[in-house]
Amino acid sequence: MQAKFQHALVIGASSGIGEALARRLAADGCRVALVARRRAELERIAGEINADAGEGRALFYEHDVRNAGEVPSLLQEIARALGGLDLVIYAAGVLPRVAFDEYDTAKDLATLNVNLLGAIAWLNPVAARFNRLRRGTIVGIGSVAGDRGRSGAPAYNTSKAALHTYLEALRNRIGRYGVRVVTVKPGFVDTAMVTGMGKLPLVVSPERAARLILKHARSGSLVAYIPARWRLASLIVRAIPSWLFRRLKV
Ligand SMILES: NC(=O)c1ccc[n+]([C@@H]2O[C@H](COP(=O)([O-])OP(=O)(O)OC[C@H]3O[C@@H](n4cnc5c(N)ncnc54)[C@H](OP(=O)(O)O)[C@@H]3O)[C@@H](O)[C@H]2O)c1
Repeated sequence: MQAKFQHALVIGASSGIGEALARRLAADGCRVALVARRRAELERIAGEINADAGEGRALFYEHDVRNAGEVPSLLQEIARALGGLDLVIYAAGVLPRVAFDEYDTAKDLATLNVNLLGAIAWLNPVAARFNRLRRGTIVGIGSVAGDRGRSGAPAYNTSKAALHTYLEALRNRIGRYGVRVVTVKPGFVDTAMVTGMGKLPLVVSPERAARLILKHARSGSLVAYIPARWRLASLIVRAIPSWLFRRLKV
């Protein structure tokens, strides 16, 4: 189990799980950089963290993950400002609502841009840096939704399945050099992303999700379901034969 993290970067920290992760890390004594698009939210959250934990504990950076060209210099700037970097969490994501008979390429590409391509744009230079240093922890927030192709959100499912595969490949490249790559698969977390979805099973708060995610990050888990009960649920869902899964309309 790794000691507490000292310098962390959370991409997608302006709300939900990323916000809860940034707050938890700061409360545990870590210096944390928050990245997302909504400046006002970032400023408010960083201000509250600094008021509670001490000035300079949280820094924030306005950035759209679709601007991949900005990443290498922003990563350097953040590592310098924090005084180091030992944990990077990619939590940015979108889940646009898709009607059952909707086939909107622009919407689907936008989902892939944030959930998958943004992750690759950030985690490639992070992996190169940690590989050079022979240490560091990378956490990617996937989803149980990536474990199966469902009819309700094809591009979201695809983005998360591909993210899981990318993270596994990163782990297989740099895990041998002491760098940890943790794939996190939450079930349902009570954030803006699931607002209006009706009654959902096994929902956890973003604060509980953040606590569990950081526990897995410290222990160096390979693939962590949040909460753990989703591992069995996913095992069952993945065992359903395709001909039957198709009829379930999920
Ligand atoms: N909630 C769930 O039930 C659930 C379940 C499984 C997995 N997840 C995953 O958990 C992660 C966090 O989601 P959440 O539930 O916490 O939802 P959320 O509150 O909507 O948070 C999404 C975060 O992603 C950021 N983001 C979105 N587009 C971005 C862009 N173009 N550039 C930079 N940042 C961007 C948002 O910041 P800005 O809008 O300020 O840019 C926000 O900080 C996502 O990857 C999601 O897929 C969530």
